[in-house]
Amino acid sequence: MELFFPTMSIILGCVALLLLLQWKNFRGPPCIGGWIPWIGAAFEFGKAPLEFIEKARIKYGPIFTVFIMGKRMTFVTEEVGIDVFLRSKKVDFELAVQTPIYRTVSVPGNIFFALHEKLYIMMKGKMGALNLYHFNEQLTEELHRQLEKLGSHGTTDLNNLVRSWSQSKKWLLALLEENLPETRLYKPTKDNPMIAFWTLAFILSHPEVHKTIMEDMVSVLGPAGKEKIKISEDDLKKLMLIKWCILETIRLRAPGVITRMVVEPIRILNYTVPPGDLLMLSPFWLHRNPEYFPEPDSFKPERWKKANLEKHAFLDNFLAFGYGKYQCPGRWLALLEIQICIILIFYKYDCHLLDPLPKQSFLHLVGVPHPERQCRIEYRQRK
Ligand code: HEM
Repeated sequence: MELFFPTMSIILGCVALLLLLQWKNFRGPPCIGGWIPWIGAAFEFGKAPLEFIEKARIKYGPIFTVFIMGKRMTFVTEEVGIDVFLRSKKVDFELAVQTPIYRTVSVPGNIFFALHEKLYIMMKGKMGALNLYHFNEQLTEELHRQLEKLGSHGTTDLNNLVRSWSQSKKWLLALLEENLPETRLYKPTKDNPMIAFWTLAFILSHPEVHKTIMEDMVSVLGPAGKEKIKISEDDLKKLMLIKWCILETIRLRAPGVITRMVVEPIRILNYTVPPGDLLMLSPFWLHRNPEYFPEPDSFKPERWKKANLEKHAFLDNFLAFGYGKYQCPGRWLALLEIQICIILIFYKYDCHLLDPLPKQSFLHLVGVPHPERQCRIEYRQRK
């Protein structure tokens, strides 16, 4: 009996220590849940999702979970977590995107999982950087036709201009269907016209960049005018500043999030992220980290000089097109289409902005952010 109490105390102490260690081991990241069960933080998050992520990072640290509509989204914002997101075998792209794909194009899970990898490989091959230039002629021809609708001069919201041009883009869908029937499974996104909009707005609000682009164009394509020019692969390679402007725009207006599903418990910093969580990474905020991109909020196309674009490599930590096995297969086609669009608009029209460059809206989490308000331009066809 004398020994009973000390022994019990030691045993209970050990059990408590073990539980504490286990709790520490399996402790999840700080969780923002709100007070309404199941709904969680949906209302707060929905008001301005992009802003919510950054405020949560400042308040809770480099990793945190947001609980919304019964789902857990765990955001990683710094090096260790980002490395896990990009390289761990315990996270899965297909499981994360299957539900949104089912919602947008009604492809059932079994068909998606059976076909996805094959489709991706086909798309990647056909839209790859090396195969792309056979789209050149058709793209240029069609963009010429669309631009004719603009008339000789006018004033318009730049966003409407790019959007209506892309909404009447049955021609591009037909072109894709003809060359890439696989893309039928995917709904075309607004990312391309949005990036075309932002690139034109950034260039026009930086007169020195606009001036250099015009000088480059004259030296490569001859004096700008209303002629129906052809643009060769070689011309595009010489007009590098336009490509840098597009990439710098994509850096500044990158998608709000990319996502992976956690399939086994993962240790990140001192936390364990459980299976079933959606692991989220925000290219938009990552591109604003001054350690990766000095003066991150400035439009500096010349920073792209360092990227080995000849070898099809972007700058380190540029994640607007995702990463890994299923990185965006349409990235080179997107760059080509936007590059031709910008060349033709500047070649044919003298344009200037009537409004200051708008800020991006914080409402769009998936895909490229939209402008907060209108941005009008005045354009006049060159002689
Ligand atoms: C500036 C324009 C674009 C941006 C910013 C963009 C961005 C992205 C991102 C972030 C992903 C997810 C990758 C990941 O999580 O690792 C993705 C996937 C994808 N993108 Fe793009 N994209 C653009 C244009 C295009 C175009 C023009 C096409 C096709 C014509 C395209 C087709 C796809 C497809 C099919 C996927 C899904 C890949 C899969 O299911 O495996 N994208 N894109």
